[in-house]
Amino acid sequence: MTLTILGIESSCDDTAAAVVRGTEILSSVVYGQTDLHADFGGVVPEIAARAHAEKLDHAIEEALQKAGLTLANLDGIAVTSGPGLIGGVLSGVMCAKGISAATGLPLVGVNHLAGHSLTPRLTDQLPYPYLMLLVSGGHCQFLIVEGHDTYQRIGGTIDDAPGEAFDKTARILGLQQPGGPHVENAARNGDPKRFSLPRPLLNQPGCDMSFSGLKTAILRARDSVVAEKGGLELQDQADLCAGFQAAVTDVLIEKTRRAMQIYLEMNPAKRSFAIAGGVAANGAIRDGLLRLCAELDTDFVAPPLQLCTDNAAMIAYAGIEMMQAGHRDDLTLSARPRWPLDQRAAPMLGSGKKGAKA
Ligand code: KG4
Ligand code: ZN
Repeated sequence: MTLTILGIESSCDDTAAAVVRGTEILSSVVYGQTDLHADFGGVVPEIAARAHAEKLDHAIEEALQKAGLTLANLDGIAVTSGPGLIGGVLSGVMCAKGISAATGLPLVGVNHLAGHSLTPRLTDQLPYPYLMLLVSGGHCQFLIVEGHDTYQRIGGTIDDAPGEAFDKTARILGLQQPGGPHVENAARNGDPKRFSLPRPLLNQPGCDMSFSGLKTAILRARDSVVAEKGGLELQDQADLCAGFQAAVTDVLIEKTRRAMQIYLEMNPAKRSFAIAGGVAANGAIRDGLLRLCAELDTDFVAPPLQLCTDNAAMIAYAGIEMMQAGHRDDLTLSARPRWPLDQRAAPMLGSGKKGAKA
């Protein structure tokens, strides 16, 4: 039976609701919060939680209206129940529980990372298994996706996520937040070779990554330009952005090559690679990965940009797979700030401004 599910997402700074039927997105509504956090240089958890609580009802109403449905037409509700900023996750979980209690609709709590990881199945019906690079503001990991609840984490960042590094680089260079698109834009006019920037862990075995040193290198390079010229010109800014983006791209591509080797040793017959997460919107990174996949004779699935960044369609779709497998949660469903997809993998270090890194 094809299920029609309402998805709710509020784990970071986007308030989102969507209705998905099978693999068809009937509606997907995302209210961003960029303006609310603009003065603070990053996401403020309390402001985010309050905005989610205020906006969730509207997002859900709009999603139902755009889908041309009412709650009575749904088969269930899927809500992000972690990982993420706890106040935001709680807002979504409480809202979903309220609707479930009032309507009797079945409820499932979805791992936000499962939502990203299953997106290639929603957009391209990609069969299991496949290798996934999940790369966003809070996350960076290589996952072998074997089923909606079976993931093997084979590597990831040991410190910052690339999106966080893009955001910090933008801040260091006086560009707007979220930094990724602004850095990418400035990089178009820049010379990636002018500054010599590190490629951390590039020559280490395995597919773990590190991005915090790169951000420090950008800070030093900026300071030396400022010391020399008394300020940063547009060309300096462009060259620093281009150098930074080239370094991140080189690391992601080389580590993807290694992750692919590890994956193919386990699944030799299935050459499929997919990306998701906000940084997957970056053109230079997408192009580099596309070339790598062509070289490795591997299928490459890159979902459309609006389904790479946070959205609720991916949560609704993950909920559909879970409900089809018989999974249900009840009103004891709790919000989890940390929730690694691969429970067997060693925990990652630290927690970023957007929540847990693993
Ligand atoms: O997946 P996402 O919407 O939220 C989570 O972090 O879960 O990703 C947001 C991140 C931000 O750090 C943003 O700067 C980055 O994705 N990003 C980009 C681009 N667009 C968004 N990074 C590089 N290039 C882009 N074009
Ligand atoms: Zn995300």
